[in-house]
Amino acid sequence: MTRSKFEKEDMPDTEKNREIFNRKEEHLKIPLEYDVQHSINYFDDIKLIHHAIPENDLERVDLKFKFFNKEISAPICISAITGGHPVSKEINKILAKAAEQENIIMSVGSQRIGLEDPSTIDSFKVVREFAPTIPVIGNLGLGQVGSTYFKEDDLTNCIDMVNADVMAIHLNALHELVQFKGNVSYRNFKANFKKIREHTSIPLIAKEVGSGLNKEIALSLDELGFDGFDVGGAGGTSFAAIESKRNNFDNDMYSRNPADVFREWGIPTPVSIVNVRCVSKKVIIATGGLRTGIDIAKSIVLGADIGGFAYKFLKSSWQDRKNDTISNTVKEIKTLKNELRSSLWLMNLENLSELKNKREKCVLLGDLYLWLNQ
Ligand SMILES: Cc1cc2nc3c(=O)[nH]c(=O)nc-3n(C[C@H](O)[C@H](O)[C@H](O)COP(=O)(O)O)c2cc1C
Repeated sequence: MTRSKFEKEDMPDTEKNREIFNRKEEHLKIPLEYDVQHSINYFDDIKLIHHAIPENDLERVDLKFKFFNKEISAPICISAITGGHPVSKEINKILAKAAEQENIIMSVGSQRIGLEDPSTIDSFKVVREFAPTIPVIGNLGLGQVGSTYFKEDDLTNCIDMVNADVMAIHLNALHELVQFKGNVSYRNFKANFKKIREHTSIPLIAKEVGSGLNKEIALSLDELGFDGFDVGGAGGTSFAAIESKRNNFDNDMYSRNPADVFREWGIPTPVSIVNVRCVSKKVIIATGGLRTGIDIAKSIVLGADIGGFAYKFLKSSWQDRKNDTISNTVKEIKTLKNELRSSLWLMNLENLSELKNKREKCVLLGDLYLWLNQ
């Protein structure tokens, strides 16, 4: 096992890698065993406008979308979940096979461990093996790209590991904050990003992981040269809630666990979509608390292009792993497509562009209305 490339070490190498390895497994299991979802889901405050006599036939509603240079069958993304652990390899294989079969986007989890421990690389490579044609999104974190030890080769290696079509840089400041010995210094991020931007030919997207994006950061990331966004807003999986279950709180120093106190922190996903769309014309993936195809439609009406799901596909693939199948995951994707198609049909729309950013086709209620009208 090699020394961590991105942080000054105050733990021996093997202990550090074992810690990342255990964390990977706990991150998969905790959302399945405990309720780590945000307590409020702001998609409930969006109502889509019904049209009593749809003029099109249901099956003629067109869900196809061009994601950079690849056409997908529907605007659905399996969000970044995992990699780096034998269980992750099985999960990634299931997700990749299902995504390939249904022609949607597949993301891998953080590839940091793949850079640090070559024995874990196959848990990422398996994705391209079973998903040769669909768009695959690679993943590396703010903590690595913002590190003094970051090298441009690190990004190239991640791209090569999965033959990525697109690379996501995940922004997870809250997660790092509430994690034991998390990385909370990103001063080199802009300078490092500018270097990789110059030398990277594939699209780079900025991805939050559950705390959302405000207008100021969206504009700054747009100007910095990102090609798109995954808003990763509040409303779904809460990484603070996951960390609060990992029992890694330093209670000698503080009287309350920050992971409990910051459990609900963040900008709701629908608000984050509007924030980004106000300042950028680039592609937006809406992730964070989407539950059905109706939530994809609600995201698109606010200006997003694609709906992303992590928790839902973690659940379906876990079930598939037990039964040695991909049928639950495939069924989930088909269900999302059917719900999205039905939503458009009930709104008398023929395709996604008739829905995108058409605010007159929805009504905003309650706290979401207040968020957006401050
Ligand atoms: C088990 C698990 C692991 C995750 N790991 C990553 C990761 O490595 N990189 C990343 O960008 N996001 C990661 N995420 C965040 C998701 O991609 C997504 O942004 C977030 O969970 C919100 O979506 P959801 O409400 O559908 O779960 C992870 C989420 C879960 C549930």
